[in-house]
Amino acid sequence: MAESMQATDWFSANGKVILFGEHAVVYGVEAVAAAVPDLVRARAFRTDDTYRLKIPHWHVDMRDFQKHEANASETELLRSMFFLIAGELAVDGEFFGLEVDARVPPASGLGASAALAVAATKALANLFELRLNLSEINDIAFKCEQLAHGTPSGLDNTLATFGGVLRFRRENGAAVFAPVPLASPIELLIALSGKKGFTAGAVAKVRDAKNRDPQRYQGLFADIARLSAEGIIALAESDTSKLASLFNQNQRYLAEMDLSCDEIEQVLTIAASAGCNGGKLTGSGDGGAVILLAEEGAERIESSLNAAGFSTLKTVLGAKSSAFVQG
Ligand code: PMV
Repeated sequence: MAESMQATDWFSANGKVILFGEHAVVYGVEAVAAAVPDLVRARAFRTDDTYRLKIPHWHVDMRDFQKHEANASETELLRSMFFLIAGELAVDGEFFGLEVDARVPPASGLGASAALAVAATKALANLFELRLNLSEINDIAFKCEQLAHGTPSGLDNTLATFGGVLRFRRENGAAVFAPVPLASPIELLIALSGKKGFTAGAVAKVRDAKNRDPQRYQGLFADIARLSAEGIIALAESDTSKLASLFNQNQRYLAEMDLSCDEIEQVLTIAASAGCNGGKLTGSGDGGAVILLAEEGAERIESSLNAAGFSTLKTVLGAKSSAFVQG
């Protein structure tokens, strides 16, 4: 297989943390979420006679995969996304490769798959000299999210594409979102629970439970909607102690929905003993990531978590991406 040495530049896309409203957002509740700038980047290159997808951090190196389809589900999903993007850009008659650099493992609850779709779309558009606007990129990434879990709210692809801190809801099938102003940037610590969080399974679990007990779930979603509304005010005032308390309340509702797990609870317990005032799971839950707020002593919380074997990363809510290259 011959590959051209000439790859495009790297094109980056945001991951995201959901501050309030995961799962409830699938049922029309307003969520609040923030970009994690440049979580994933991708570059594209031409090949002579085959397709190629390399994601070194995920131990993915697929060659000739149209002819020899893999059957592992994660690999199958990547393959489907690859061809969906190529089809949307109408370059599926050409041979090319994509190299993806991801800062977190898959299924971390940080929107890495939507970020991958956005970064790959930008890189591929650049390779074939196509001009796409952000809304077109967002639409393609939403279709990729539908492949991944059927009924996505569209939050991940929206944050991956547009960034910032957003309030987001679905109304009559359309995504409605707007920036949330912050009085000043807020530092957030993200801890990976080390257990994969599978969005499709978690969304199905909530749907089944809601069908069994609609009244209870209506009540939970109404409570979560109230937290989102209060969270928007706390963000506008950069009131971190209020935010911390709202995180703790949202975590309790998520745990009531059976979306927490031992690993998430362990992260929260270690963080609390190290001085963290508020934390919650973020994303699908049942694994994935935890977000933590500390008015002071973030270093101590981080080193306690690292000492217990949990990886961490920091983000600043309201910070602009440094290396954002628009495709
Ligand atoms: O874990 P993630 O990054 O796939 O986030 C899922 C968020 C949900 O609200 C559970 C589903 C959705 O589509 O919004």
